Amino acid sequence: MRDGLITPVAEPGTGHSPTGTGVHRIDGRVKVTGQARYAAEWRTPGLAYAVAVNSTIARGRIVRFRLDAALAVPGVLQVITHENRPHMRSLAFFYKDMTAPGGSPFRPLYDDVVRYSGQPVALVVAETFEAARDAAARLVVEYLQEGHQTELMAHLHQSRQPKPLKAGFSPPPKDKGDPQAAFNAAPCQVNAHYYSGTEHHNPMELFASTVILNGTGHYTIYDKTQGSQNSRWYVSRVFGIPRRKVTVRNTYVGGAFGAGLRPQYQLALAMMAAIVLKRSVRVVMTRHQMFTFGHRPETSQHLKLAADRDGVLRAIWHEAIAETSRIEDYVEVVVNWSGQLYACDNVHLSYRLVPLDQYTPIDMRAPGAAHGMHALEVAMDELSYEIGIDPLELRLKNYAHSNPVDGKPFSSKALRECYALGAERFGWAFRPPEPRARREAHEWIGWGMATGQWDAMQMPARAQAVLHADGPLVVSSAATDIGTGTYTVMAMIAAESLGLPLERVTFQLGDSNLPFAPIEGGSSHVTSVGSAVDGACGKLRKQLLVLAQREDDSPFRGLTLGQVQFVDSGLQVRGATATHVSLDDLLHGAGKGSVEARYLLVPNMFKKRRFTRATHSAVFVEVRVDEELGTVRVMRVVSAIAAGRILNPIAARSQIIGGVVWGIGAALHEHSEMDHRFGRFMNHDLAQYHLSVNADIHDIEVVFAPEDDRVVSALGAKGVGEIGLVGVAAAICNAIFHATGKRVRNTPMTPDKVMN
Ligand code: MOS
Repeated sequence: MRDGLITPVAEPGTGHSPTGTGVHRIDGRVKVTGQARYAAEWRTPGLAYAVAVNSTIARGRIVRFRLDAALAVPGVLQVITHENRPHMRSLAFFYKDMTAPGGSPFRPLYDDVVRYSGQPVALVVAETFEAARDAAARLVVEYLQEGHQTELMAHLHQSRQPKPLKAGFSPPPKDKGDPQAAFNAAPCQVNAHYYSGTEHHNPMELFASTVILNGTGHYTIYDKTQGSQNSRWYVSRVFGIPRRKVTVRNTYVGGAFGAGLRPQYQLALAMMAAIVLKRSVRVVMTRHQMFTFGHRPETSQHLKLAADRDGVLRAIWHEAIAETSRIEDYVEVVVNWSGQLYACDNVHLSYRLVPLDQYTPIDMRAPGAAHGMHALEVAMDELSYEIGIDPLELRLKNYAHSNPVDGKPFSSKALRECYALGAERFGWAFRPPEPRARREAHEWIGWGMATGQWDAMQMPARAQAVLHADGPLVVSSAATDIGTGTYTVMAMIAAESLGLPLERVTFQLGDSNLPFAPIEGGSSHVTSVGSAVDGACGKLRKQLLVLAQREDDSPFRGLTLGQVQFVDSGLQVRGATATHVSLDDLLHGAGKGSVEARYLLVPNMFKKRRFTRATHSAVFVEVRVDEELGTVRVMRVVSAIAAGRILNPIAARSQIIGGVVWGIGAALHEHSEMDHRFGRFMNHDLAQYHLSVNADIHDIEVVFAPEDDRVVSALGAKGVGEIGLVGVAAAICNAIFHATGKRVRNTPMTPDKVMN
């Protein structure tokens, strides 16, 4: 991989500014040396091991369990089913975690009803993992099977409006103008259907919960989750245990991508076993079992775009139908970005759901935008050929300077700069306009591009900061690091605020007892927790300035924070190094061992709502398509990103590269294949569920367009992560068309689809 052109956007003039400069992750060493412990790696004397048994039917009832063979396995302690489980609350309300969509959440081992194939129906607990697993395989469940319905495409006619939307998701806006008439009247039209198959997150770390029960009845749970406080909230409500008796820790998380936004069923199962047996228990899911919970929903889309001959958009018509479960309405809206990206007077957006006998889908990196922007950006490419205009030119011609739906300004939008930077780095100007223009040996070579957009969010968060004299600055919040660099960036923010070297800052996260933090999702941890950290350190700055002003002859007398600087582990009058006094001396002088502050960040929604807040990208791709095999190689990707101030360019670049790699997987490989006779995902392991591997990845270049957005966060940051994925698969699809003249409207674009 080539080195990316990174544009640091450090605050000018601070002179001591770790943010904006690249810092390697401070948790890197413990991870590569194996010292970082994950949820399934915590040990305690007397730990029992439990293995879940999953249903083999997709719908019906459990008639009886035949447990004899399972119980006969040496070391087996107990088999827990809905018949002998511990008390669980009966109201669905208690099962709603902080990110639950509308409806009635799945309740593991609650009753005899089977709602989907792979549903946990029993839990075998044993002295060893091997015994539990052996016994689980010997357990027999008799079912009364009922007919199931798992096929989205066969039931599109049953689609309906989603019931109440989850917080943070708005329903599609009402029609603007007269989209149908405008479409009919325009000379250039695209009218096409797109299909995106189901995908599973497949993080490296398996989902696991280790529940450690101590003598006082306190449960310490090491859980794989994107929010320790969400898991604690769930456990305490479902089992009716006071929150003070539960601690959830997720010190290190080996990837999650949204799969950990809701408590997964191993958490409830591990708690059940701990309650029943009154001992510590661990449940680890297998890779196979990780295909028996939420996934990115299969989605069918209909796009109609119309334009004048000179490329001005006249109509955008975007309808999406996605699957959900029978019990909850998972919503990711899919179509909303299509109303925001391009200026257009006539817009129709619609989003509907089909309930199926499957587990509720769950957010997966850039939920909604990943599929919705894909269809829009492929349709835009189709329109460009219809008109005979360069695809980038078409986008620039219809560039939205304010949100076309409601007229609100963007809080910042350097998308034009992304187009320019990306096109320049890629060499887009040299693109031959016609498809099938270039080949080498047996390969067609094509170039494609697409736009990406993702929401820039901020959520409430708390942080605490304690500065110890001659010791560390300890900053804490119940935040999560799913591998994205939270430990590092939070320490950077704190270090910068107080002018301390990074090594002197300890950032604590991953513990439900720490100050409140939202789940790590929506690429919003920096804007949320980062702003709380900045706020807590800001309060320390005030306290330290007051300490510095104690003496009558203090040069700091009468000065405000704006007139002083925190640099070189001390405080000085702005620009006057002679006045420098170390923070340690300040504390000693005041006879204090430490100073501390807490800060609650409450997003100013009154201000924010006046703006549309989003991150943007422009993705340029070169592919080679084998004309005999239909195989596609993505040789070159340039991803230009506008995401506010980039606080840690190294971690941000990693995030974008990860998104691009995933985009290549989504475009070419990833698909959870269901056998609808059984209603079950069949390729449920990493041998058969194809992810991009090293051999699939070639040249990836990341460019950041300078941006600074003080509406989204006081740090100027908008958040990176998900934006790296959006648009990548569309750019690949568009490049495949440019290479071959073949339009593939169905992802993943496997050789059979590219060839036929
Ligand atoms: Mo992300 S899908 O918000 O974890």
